[in-house]
Amino acid sequence: MKVGVFFYSWTGHTKEVAGIIADHYIAELNEIKEKVDRKGRLDFFRGIFQAFFGSNVDIIMPSNKPEDYDMVFLGTPVWAGRQVPAIKTFVEKTNWADKPTFIFLCQSANSQKYMNTVSLFMEGHQANVIGSLYINDKCSKEEIKERVLEKISKLKINKKEEE
Ligand SMILES: Cc1cc2nc3c(=O)[nH]c(=O)nc-3n(C[C@H](O)[C@H](O)[C@H](O)COP(=O)(O)O)c2cc1C
Repeated sequence: MKVGVFFYSWTGHTKEVAGIIADHYIAELNEIKEKVDRKGRLDFFRGIFQAFFGSNVDIIMPSNKPEDYDMVFLGTPVWAGRQVPAIKTFVEKTNWADKPTFIFLCQSANSQKYMNTVSLFMEGHQANVIGSLYINDKCSKEEIKERVLEKISKLKINKKEEE
């Protein structure tokens, strides 16, 4: 089974989780980047505004697409309780029909409340959401690893030790 990890990360948290997943599983990392890098406070507030109003942004498309994989992990931060513009743009530009998708959500809040929003958004794009996990900014690297592996260990995907 071919597994891909797609993610967007501004400050590195989601990227770290994506790396843990890709490191443990036979999974390719695909980073979604904005064409114009964000810097500083102004871009923070612009990000809140864009997420709140559902704006799209110019992104650099990764060379792989969700349809290149049998199963996909999608990693995203939460901005203003909504979709991050780069992820919204990427999802709208790609085909998710029936794609088994595991969502990991990085956020500063310690609650499940944003998960529904993102799951519904993905289901609205016909993804088959097979699982989800939120990870709080305060989690240590060890905690992240433990929580990720516990949650996804039941998924039938190729682990490195099964090679
Ligand atoms: C513009 C902006 C808005 C955010 N809004 C929220 C929010 O509504 N709720 C929340 O829990 N965290 C919010 N955060 C925090 C991020 O979701 C969190 O720090 C996440 O781990 C960042 O991921 P990254 O390091 O991969 O970019 C926001 C961060 C930014 C930059």
